[in-house]
Formats: sequence, C-alpha cells, structure tokens
Amino acid sequence: MQYDLIIKTIQNQITNEKDDLARISNILAIIYEYAEDISWIGFYFKKDDLVLGPFQGKSACTRLNGKGVCWKAFTQEKTIIIDDVTKEKDHIFCDSSSKSEIVTVIYNKNIPIGVLDCDSAITHRFKKEDRAFFEEITNILSNEINFSKFTQI
Ligand code: SME
Repeated sequence: MQYDLIIKTIQNQITNEKDDLARISNILAIIYEYAEDISWIGFYFKKDDLVLGPFQGKSACTRLNGKGVCWKAFTQEKTIIIDDVTKEKDHIFCDSSSKSEIVTVIYNKNIPIGVLDCDSAITHRFKKEDRAFFEEITNILSNEINFSKFTQI
C-alpha cells in the first residue's frame, strides 16, 4: 500500500477509536502489514530506561540500557537511519535478521518521551521518502496521542 493510503488508514483509526493503547497497537499493525519490507516496528518509551512498548514482529530487547541507535535518536532528538546495522557500532542486536533501521522521536507536548523504531531485513531500506513517512507518522502520533501515561518523564 502506498504511504498516503497508509496515513489515511491511520487517521481513520485515530478518528474512530479514542483509547490510545488500542489506537497505537492497531497503527503499528497497519504499518507492519502494509508498508513494504518491514521486519519489526515498535515503541520504546522513556521510563527509568528506554523500555519496550507495543510492537509488531519478533520478541525484542525490553530495555536498551542507555545504549543503541534508539537511545542516540532519543537524546539527540533526531531521526536516525542506519543503512547496514552490521556496520553500526551503536546498534543493539535484538534480531539477527534486522539489516537496516529508522528511528524517529515521539513527543508529548513538545517533550521527547520515546521513539518509534522500525527495522527491515534488507539493507538500505529507508530512503528520503521513508524518512518523510515515518516523520509524518510520529508527528501525527505526537499530536493525537496522550503519551504521558506510557512514560515516566
Ligand atoms: N534497534 C535498536 C534496538 C532495538 S531492536 O532493533 C528492536 C537500537 O540499536 O537502538
């Protein structure tokens, strides 16, 4: 499915359901099912560490121990794309099939509260248009979802 259709589907999900956990769970399932070549997608929320939230894909590291690409994106408040995770010293390996990733930052009232982490089983999966898509998703989520109950900030 094209990204603009995925975004419309996500917006419908937000319009039709008011429970935030139900919304974000289904939003992840929509991206996982309809975006191409996605092996894992999920949230890490800031608590006493970055801690695993809802996700789609194989079981993953529950805590990032202040390390990894997710932690870097979160602390630097910027999107990070890794074309080949085997060449990235900061990458934390949760799943050996992961080859590339994109991490975008999630905000609650302009305060960073976590990240959306998306992995692919192919290298160089995430390009300029994919960055724009994931940044639009995290922008919608940051504006529409009350993430305060999922964090300890
Ligand atoms: N990619 C992360 C680790 C989490 S897993 O990929 C689900 C990182 O290096 O921050």
